[in-house]
Amino acid sequence: MIVIRNLYKSFNDGATYVVEDVSLEVAEGETVVLLGSSGSGKTTTMKMINRLIDPSSGTIEVDGRNVMEQDPVELRRSIGYVFQGIGLFPHMTIEDNVAIVLRLLGRSSSERRQRAHELLELVQLDPAEYAQRMPGELSGGQQQRIGVARALAADPAYMLMDEPFGALDALTRDTLQQEVLKLKERLRKTIVFVTHDIFEALALADRVAIMHEGRLEQVGTQEEILGNPATPFVRELFEKPAKQLAAFREHME
Ligand SMILES: Nc1ncnc2c1ncn2[C@@H]1O[C@H](COP(=O)(O)OP(=O)(O)OP(=O)(O)O)[C@@H](O)[C@H]1O
Ligand SMILES: [Mg+2]
Repeated sequence: MIVIRNLYKSFNDGATYVVEDVSLEVAEGETVVLLGSSGSGKTTTMKMINRLIDPSSGTIEVDGRNVMEQDPVELRRSIGYVFQGIGLFPHMTIEDNVAIVLRLLGRSSSERRQRAHELLELVQLDPAEYAQRMPGELSGGQQQRIGVARALAADPAYMLMDEPFGALDALTRDTLQQEVLKLKERLRKTIVFVTHDIFEALALADRVAIMHEGRLEQVGTQEEILGNPATPFVRELFEKPAKQLAAFREHME
């Protein structure tokens, strides 16, 4: 379980806050999607969970332990993360990219290879064809799948995914979303997923957390949010795509 309490972040000594009084719990096996416009504080919130950024105040517990009391390097190894800006190592084979955390953990080369191949199969890339390729020899969507495989390598209970499918066409995106849904069911991960795409949020989330200007406007299931928007911002956010939304929900049923 991830428990965030009264989290604040300022990058200018308290003059302004980009994350303001955010409290959120993510239960075991739950997928919470942070949804919000550009600059609303999603990535900053996410990075405070695995200490890529330190909070100005507030607490975050992962698995009952305050993250600030843990070694940041170990913490990051125990949480799988796929961030859009953090790419693959261009001079390493796909197999080595997928298994990098296992190498850092000191696992044997045969174990690394076996696990990498297992994970490639999981994200539906044939190891015989892809394991020895270099990242530059894969399509954008394939590279993003490798990012997901790499995050899963050490079988972490927690996954942080920050717009992992942001740059993809709708079709590839749809395929990868379906894969995340399957993973979620099969592997029972606890996932925090960031997107600014309403449809992606609704497709993947058990609960959606809507961020606006550093604050959480509402946290709830699809039904709760659509049926009872807590703030004018939330109402407007879902108003425009309401028609598409009706079609989308039909499509999902
Ligand atoms: N290192 C930093 N120093 C100063 N300001 C920062 C820093 N990182 C982020 N910010 C600011 O904090 C705010 C929130 O940024 P954040 O990256 O969390 O937004 P986001 O919701 O992830 O947006 P996007 O959807 O565009 O990725 C933005 O106004 C951004 O400019
Ligand atoms: Mg971001």
